[in-house]
Amino acid sequence: MELNWNDLKQRCLTCRACGLCETRHQVVFGVGNPQAEVLFIGEGPGENEDLQGEPFVGRAGKLLDTMLEAVGLSRKHNIYIGNMVKCRPPHNRDPLPEEQAACAHWLEEQIALISPKIVVCLGRIAAFRFISPDFKVSRQHGEFFEKDGVLYMGMFHPAAILRNPNQKPVAFVDFVKLRDKIQEICTHTELKFDE
Ligand code: URA
Repeated sequence: MELNWNDLKQRCLTCRACGLCETRHQVVFGVGNPQAEVLFIGEGPGENEDLQGEPFVGRAGKLLDTMLEAVGLSRKHNIYIGNMVKCRPPHNRDPLPEEQAACAHWLEEQIALISPKIVVCLGRIAAFRFISPDFKVSRQHGEFFEKDGVLYMGMFHPAAILRNPNQKPVAFVDFVKLRDKIQEICTHTELKFDE
């Protein structure tokens, strides 16, 4: 596992399969514990992520960390966080279909190695891909969908919550549902409240 993971990471860090490689500063491979039972999938790196090489390190990332910590989860210990595309789309536009297609296999290889029990899709782009192309975040957030023994849940993207803070309490309920599901089905996800 360790060798495969490091090998995958090294290959990903030198990827030049789409035009985003021309404008990126860093490939943002992902962060967290590759043995986690819970995987979060965002959309793509923004400016801070592109500069620091880590997902969700800007304002949206701080909000994500706060929500995670409130239910005993942390990017350091018990989850993994990746993105649909590994390189920043210029001006934070949505990744183009061809960029998503060129990048998809990296995330698929990560998923195959992590083998998560629960996948949380942050925002519509990840939910379209992993849950359904008709997914409506505003109506279906917080619901679990089972596919091939894996549970998928769509959540509001933290950047959307920052734009519309009224969503915060509802978004937090989704994290509580996630925590409850982890306690029900995960066997080695230790929730941590002491940091
Ligand atoms: N938004 C995302 O979807 N991913 C990141 O890594 C940062 C912001």
